[in-house]
Amino acid sequence: PLVSMKEMLEKAKAEKYAVGQFNINNLEFTQAILQAAEEEKSPVILGVSEGAARYMGGFKLTVAMVKALMDEYNVTVPVAIHLDHGSSFEKCMQAINAGFTSVMFDGSHYPLEENIAYTKKVVDAAHAVGVSVEAELGRIGGQEDDLVVNDAEAAYAIPSECEQLVKETGVDCFAPALGSVHGPYKGEPNLGFDRMEEINNLVGVPLVLHGGTGIPTKDIKKAISLGHAKINVNTENQISSAKAVREVLAEKPDLYDPRKYLGPARDAIKETVIGKMREFGSSGQA
Ligand code: G3H
Ligand code: ZN
Repeated sequence: PLVSMKEMLEKAKAEKYAVGQFNINNLEFTQAILQAAEEEKSPVILGVSEGAARYMGGFKLTVAMVKALMDEYNVTVPVAIHLDHGSSFEKCMQAINAGFTSVMFDGSHYPLEENIAYTKKVVDAAHAVGVSVEAELGRIGGQEDDLVVNDAEAAYAIPSECEQLVKETGVDCFAPALGSVHGPYKGEPNLGFDRMEEINNLVGVPLVLHGGTGIPTKDIKKAISLGHAKINVNTENQISSAKAVREVLAEKPDLYDPRKYLGPARDAIKETVIGKMREFGSSGQA
C-alpha cells in the first residue's frame, strides 16, 4: 500500500536497518524499483525531485503512474511517494494535493529561524492529512538536478540547531548534512560520525542520509547504528542504467527500438536496488 514514511522509518530505526529512497525518473525506474521492493519484501520510498516530476509530466501524472504500477504488480510492501528536496511550501502543497504521501522541505539554505518557520508550516499542513515530512540542516555538497552546492558552501549541521529544529517543527525524520555529497564522490567520503552520534542523541527522530551513492558499506552500517533509518540513492541507479544503455548500443550500433536498450537499463536498476536493499538490511522487513 501507499503510505507515509512515518511508521516504516520508526520500525527501521528501532530494528536497526534503513529504508532506501530510490529516485524515479521515468516509467522504467519506477517499474524496476517497485519490482525490486516486492521481490525483496522490502519497504521502499520512491523519491521524486521537482525536476524529475516536471520531466515525468507533473505531480499528478507521477502519482497516477505509481498507483497503476502498484495495482498491476499487486504490491503488498509499504511504499511511500516522497517529494525530494521540496523548494517551497507551495511545491510541498502541490505534491500533497496530487497524492504524495511524504514530502521533504529543504530549507537548508535559509537562516535557521526561517528554515524552522517554513518547515513548521509544511509540517502543520502535511500532518493534518497524514503526510510525513523530512527537513534538512547544514548543506549537502554536490549536485542533484537544480540543486547545486559547491565545496565552499557545503557545511556540516550544528547539533544544537538540529535539536532546536526537530523539537520546534515536529518533523518525522531529519537529514543533517555530515559530509555526504550528491553525485559521485571525489575520493573517499568523510562522514562526521562524532557529530552524527551527538545529533542522534539530541533529536530522537530517524535520521536521513543523502548522497547514498558511493558510500562504503562499513560507513553505511555505522550510519545505521547511529540512527539513520533512511538512505537516499539516485546517482548509482542512473550510472548503472546509463552503462547498460551504452553497452547495448556499442554492441549493436544499428539498434533503434527503445525497448531493446531501456529494457536492459531497467534490469540494471532493479539489480542495483536489490543490492542496496540487502546492504541496508530492509530486505525481508515488509
Ligand atoms: O536526494 C537524493 C539523494 O540524496 C541522492 O544522492 O545521487 O548521490 O545517490 P545520490
Ligand atoms: Zn538529497
